[in-house]
Amino acid sequence: MRIGLCIIATGKYHRFLEPLWESARRFFLPGHDVRLFLFSDRPAPVPCEHLDTPHRPWPLPTLYRYHTLLQAEERLRNLDYIFYCDADMRFVATVGDEVLGRLVAVVHPGFAGKPAHEFTYERRRQSRAYIPPGAGQHYYAGGFQGGRPDDYLAAARAMRQAIDDDLRHGLVAVWHDESHWNRYCLDRAPAVVLPPTYCCPESWPMPGRKLLALDKNHAEIRGP
Ligand code: GAL
Ligand code: GAL
Ligand code: MN
Repeated sequence: MRIGLCIIATGKYHRFLEPLWESARRFFLPGHDVRLFLFSDRPAPVPCEHLDTPHRPWPLPTLYRYHTLLQAEERLRNLDYIFYCDADMRFVATVGDEVLGRLVAVVHPGFAGKPAHEFTYERRRQSRAYIPPGAGQHYYAGGFQGGRPDDYLAAARAMRQAIDDDLRHGLVAVWHDESHWNRYCLDRAPAVVLPPTYCCPESWPMPGRKLLALDKNHAEIRGP
């Protein structure tokens, strides 16, 4: 199957790209035709579909991720599956066909097994990411997600619209794109809900880890 792996790596995030892509080639859907879609302001160091993307100040690189991905909508539409992965991640064990589904989300490692009232959903009614108390089964991480082109691109378009609506009202959701992803998944339950081993902090000794969110100096990496 043709799989697109989308990575946004602008500014200092560029440094993560090569080791991430090497790890993906080894562990991500081996046996399938996995193609890298790189959204970057630098030349691509590896063969890929390259989409020129400017670096923006934090939190815009993540908040605008759906705007960014949708620049490649026409190319992504022809794949069998699309996945998005944060740049600061590393595959460390085989991720296989269990991740294939119409819409794919990962339970955030910080909230697995916690009561819903602790979830860090957006709680301001004015935001389009708003989730009322009592609603929601999982808190999903934004670092790894995907699905079939029809489903994932529809999700991306809806979230782009919601993020733009918020901005027009001077609002940025508490966890940026991640808040909107949680809101979207409340309306359209993901077909595949992956455990936190698919987005596990590097420093957490969780058994069965497959995809690590690397420990890093946030201030340094987000800066100019
Ligand atoms: C943190 C994580 C953030 C965001 C937040 C949600 O652990 O670093 O990116 O996901 O949880 O509460
Ligand atoms: C992080 C996540 C990113 C993005 C960000 C929002 O936890 O890894 O993909 O969603 O939260 O601040
Ligand atoms: Mn990250």
